[in-house]
Amino acid sequence: MIVTPSNQSCGATVTGIDLTKPLNAEQVAEIRNAWLEHHVLSFPSQKMSDDDLERFTLYFGDFGHDPFFAPVDGREHIAAIRRDADEKSPLFAENWHSDWSFQEHPPAGTCLRSIIIPPMGGDTLFANQHAALDDMPAEMRAKYEGLTAIHSAQLAYAPEGTYGDKDAERSMAIRPDETARETQLHPLIREHPETGRPGLFSCLGYIIGFEGMAQEDALPLLQELYAWQGRDEFVYRHKWEPDMLVMWDNRSVLHCATGGYEGHDRLLHRTTIAAHNA
Ligand code: SIN
Repeated sequence: MIVTPSNQSCGATVTGIDLTKPLNAEQVAEIRNAWLEHHVLSFPSQKMSDDDLERFTLYFGDFGHDPFFAPVDGREHIAAIRRDADEKSPLFAENWHSDWSFQEHPPAGTCLRSIIIPPMGGDTLFANQHAALDDMPAEMRAKYEGLTAIHSAQLAYAPEGTYGDKDAERSMAIRPDETARETQLHPLIREHPETGRPGLFSCLGYIIGFEGMAQEDALPLLQELYAWQGRDEFVYRHKWEPDMLVMWDNRSVLHCATGGYEGHDRLLHRTTIAAHNA
């Protein structure tokens, strides 16, 4: 197995391994170590099926619980990230986020397998949140130290949210509901549960405020933080090819979809890897 770092803030390409075949314990350990080091791994030229995607996911934990998405036909744990060539709805997930950070035990990771990739555009951006914390000026960090963030899916998946009732034309099988209003607390700065490395967890969007802080004080803090978290120096830009598997660590990075492929289909299949304590 060959791991080639992106030379950006995170990300590495992994070759010399066949993910359409079962992996042995040594191979799984090697991938896990590379994932914890680089936070985002891409495996090009993997002609994987959905069975292969599920088998790969389960090497790293149980399946995570994916609310607000209907799974693809015949699968309980695979969701389609899909956009049709003639689609008019706003891009899905074109904002920084950490998947399902509003859950009590958010998923450790996400796996995304490319099926149809447009000839241009549609890159996924990843922002390293260990680097974002390490490089934060002390006077800025002092404003965020010790804060507990309030997470919720309401802005996205409540009936009046971005993907709510007004978004009915979308090709993706998104299912908004009232449970999106639930809230969950997580420390804003926390140690990675496996590496112990401190980082910022999640961002404005799924974070809707800070515990014990008035909204008019929390919102500017969250906006300033969001701008910092996605600075160019923390970002790895992932360029997709068909038959590529990408796995990322939601505890270490934010990610964000991008457009630029109007008139072309884009389709990927996604699983989440549950947290160890879920
Ligand atoms: C996602 O946020 O899961 C999708 C990312 C992408 O479509 O690039």
